[in-house]
Amino acid sequence: MKAIKDSAAGVVIAIDGPAGAGKSTVARMLADKLQFDFLDTGALYRCVTLAVLQAGIDPRDEAAVVALADGLHIELDRESVRLDGHDVGAAIRTPEVATSIGAIADNIEIRQRLTQWQRSWTRGRRVVTEGRDQGSEVFYDSPCKIFLVATREERARRRLQELQQRGIAADYETVLRQQNQRDHEDASRPVGGLRKAQDAIEVCTTGLSLDAVVDKLLKLVRQRLAKCAELGTQQ
Ligand code: C5P
Repeated sequence: MKAIKDSAAGVVIAIDGPAGAGKSTVARMLADKLQFDFLDTGALYRCVTLAVLQAGIDPRDEAAVVALADGLHIELDRESVRLDGHDVGAAIRTPEVATSIGAIADNIEIRQRLTQWQRSWTRGRRVVTEGRDQGSEVFYDSPCKIFLVATREERARRRLQELQQRGIAADYETVLRQQNQRDHEDASRPVGGLRKAQDAIEVCTTGLSLDAVVDKLLKLVRQRLAKCAELGTQQ
């Protein structure tokens, strides 16, 4: 594990886990408490998927998808997701995008480009990131990796509630079926698939309130960062 020698240098807290484990909300809250930036890497894959659908391109046409993606301008910050200057925060979270995203996330050249994008974005910053491949690939040298899990049923209930809050009609069975499909796609992807890094700490969020999860993570993160700082000063 790489020691942190300079607290002013960039630090990435990498949070991974399956859809609906609570990563996004928890990572945001954790970033706020730590006063770190926040990076939602799923939003990047969602932006590319949205652009592909809007352009009428077949998501499985890898070359056409890469050619389109190379011309896209994606901007993420704490409050908004912008694609070529337009706010797409809501448009990237529709069931249509969720249905097509697997082919985009399977596209190795897209993964390489988005990995570079993520590494550039975080350079020199203190960031909490969340996704599927953060601890295992993109930020494999992160000093603090968290793997969030929850039961399938609880994750589907949370996703349904989230969709309903956004005014998107959905039913539990459909959400669960789509989630199972996404779990399968995410776990079987040879590059960038959902994998727990060897040095990641697994935290189960089933039955825990958001505040309880965030408190737990805050303690874990502080312990890890303190340990790394200690190792750094000993060298
Ligand atoms: O996290 P979110 O549900 O927004 O991610 C949507 C999809 O984007 C995932 O199911 C996965 O296919 C893809 N993804 C990925 N790698 C990431 C983040 C998301 O492949 N780091």
